Amino acid sequence: MYTSKIAGLGAYVPENIVTNDDLSKMMDTNDAWIQERTGIKERRHIKKGDGNSTAKMGVKAAKIALERAGLTPKDIDLIVFATLSPDYYFPGCGVQVQEMLDMRTIPALDVRNQCSGFVYAISTADQFIKTGMYKNVLVIGSENHSGGLDMTTRSRNVSVIFGDGAGAAVLTKAANDEGGILSTHLHSEGEHAMELSLEGPSTERWVPEIIAENPQENIPYYPYMNGQFVFKNAVVRFAEVINEGLEANGLTAKDINMLIPHQANLRISQFVQKQFRLSDDQVYNNIQKYGNTTAASIPIALTEAWEEGKINKGDLVVLAAFGSGFTWGSAIIRW
Ligand code: UT7
Repeated sequence: MYTSKIAGLGAYVPENIVTNDDLSKMMDTNDAWIQERTGIKERRHIKKGDGNSTAKMGVKAAKIALERAGLTPKDIDLIVFATLSPDYYFPGCGVQVQEMLDMRTIPALDVRNQCSGFVYAISTADQFIKTGMYKNVLVIGSENHSGGLDMTTRSRNVSVIFGDGAGAAVLTKAANDEGGILSTHLHSEGEHAMELSLEGPSTERWVPEIIAENPQENIPYYPYMNGQFVFKNAVVRFAEVINEGLEANGLTAKDINMLIPHQANLRISQFVQKQFRLSDDQVYNNIQKYGNTTAASIPIALTEAWEEGKINKGDLVVLAAFGSGFTWGSAIIRW
């Protein structure tokens, strides 16, 4: 068995900043409510014509990650692309990246695990490297939420929290004594699948059928979230899966140098921080600037923490996520 390590990180967010005050002009909301309940001050939204899409933002983040890894697209053996907002219903974004970066005819895999997508994608990449099947894997998390949100008061509990952006990591085979990804831990509970979901369009309910049923309504096309139920499950599952990862490696919370939680809500991160008695320096949050970017939130946060010099060689870095599915997971990394 081999070990994989993160050799390069990159992130990209669209230039267009949307503040809470901007949102309050579109729906009945306000800066005080959004900051108090979520910690978010602003987020980025793709602007029509700015040349961005989920796949294109992923490519921008990937180019930075590849350069930092000292690799070219031709060195990559597999693409794993995590998103809930692909450019097309099919095909997936992975093949678009393969084409845009002019890569070899390598496999491209799309992961559909929403907020846990990046942790699932890292785990997938790690398994391929562990077995020796591949040496270099490009992992991307990217979301274009703004194109699909209902920006009216009806969906204000959902629409104020999500933002657009992309992050990428290049995983590569580590040398024997170098550390790397120690373990990953993944879970799901489909019983709660519809508590955070978007029904249509889907093959379960074809578009004409939905339109016939709801001639005046377009609700099935917009995300639905039972916010409080999701929140309550999130805080429990975050703690469980972080503990599971630490225990699997004979570690405790005291060993954590940096926790990068999925940026779902600042209150969730603060709750988890308290549970594990971590200091502000041991938990990285940037939801204030970007909102919840789902599969992109961990790689954007990880990239920024690394760029700010907050992650150093030998550090124990923990990634943890929870979201729609429900799905959740953690990755324990010796940097
Ligand atoms: O990333 C994937 C996982 N997602 C999450 O982890 C999200 C978890 N959930 C949450 O973060 C929170 O549930 C939210 C931030 C989404 C909502 O906060 P909440 O404290 O659960 O609010 P709520 O939905 O229970 O609504 C409380 C009140 C309601 O008004 P009434 O009925 O008390 O009069 C809402 O209508 O706040 C109202 N409200 C708003 N008011 C102003 C809901 N959204 C807004 C808004 N602006 N944007």
